[in-house]
Amino acid sequence: MREAIVELKGVRKVYPMGDERIVALDDVSLTFEKGKVYCLLGVSGSGKSTLLNIIAGLERPTRGEIFFKNHPIHKMSEKKLAIFRQKYIGFVFQSYNLMPTLTALENATLPLIFRRITKRARNKKAMNMLKAVGLGKRFKHKPSQLSGGQQQRVSIARAFVNEPEVVFADEPTGNLDTKTTKEMMDLICGLAKKHNQTLILVTHNLELSKYCDEVIYISDGKIEKTEDVSTSKIQL
Ligand SMILES: Nc1ncnc2c1ncn2[C@@H]1O[C@H](COP(=O)(O)OP(=O)(O)OP(=O)(O)O)[C@@H](O)[C@H]1O
Ligand SMILES: [Mg+2]
Repeated sequence: MREAIVELKGVRKVYPMGDERIVALDDVSLTFEKGKVYCLLGVSGSGKSTLLNIIAGLERPTRGEIFFKNHPIHKMSEKKLAIFRQKYIGFVFQSYNLMPTLTALENATLPLIFRRITKRARNKKAMNMLKAVGLGKRFKHKPSQLSGGQQQRVSIARAFVNEPEVVFADEPTGNLDTKTTKEMMDLICGLAKKHNQTLILVTHNLELSKYCDEVIYISDGKIEKTEDVSTSKIQL
């Protein structure tokens, strides 16, 4: 049975800029299902990151509703939202966003800090994740001692370690070469599929849509169309 995990209804986001008003999102209504991989595709400035941040509760909509597992997150307090994110959401960023003073292992354990489990159990979970992303031997390294691709592996481990229901990835391969891009995409999509997690990937690279079940085209803050590509993937 299909299970909606995130629902947006009539979401609008307007940024006031002096006398001007920038409409970053215009009447966006979308449904994301559990276990599916989505690709949010659009040119620079089309509203992709704004949409992602609103779904993740990092930004508030000007108007409209967002239901995350049936919870109306547009109504939640900041404090509740923070707990909500820790529990249900993982993030992978283009620029990795690792803590520079922490080792790979320490970075990967961060989302577990608020869980009521021992440090030993946290380390074990994070270590297993680092092994799953192929970094088992680099756990003592700090971000500056790792390549870009390795840093992104740490950030993928961090995003998945808490077994979140939804993982957001905003241009996760934007700084990587073609070969590493393929490795990262296989890794992120493989992990999400294995654990039946929903993955929402933001990109302007049409090539990456082949990893997805559904492509959502966004232009000037509006959803142009959504396309189910799950059956046509083999030909690509
Ligand atoms: N904090 C802000 N204040 C004012 N305008 C903003 C703000 N954030 C985004 N915008 C505007 O909203 C629009 C959408 O921006 P957004 O960052 O969502 O685009 P994007 O599709 O993620 O682009 P990119 O591919 O370059 O990351 C742009 O016109 C941008 O200038
Ligand atoms: Mg963006």
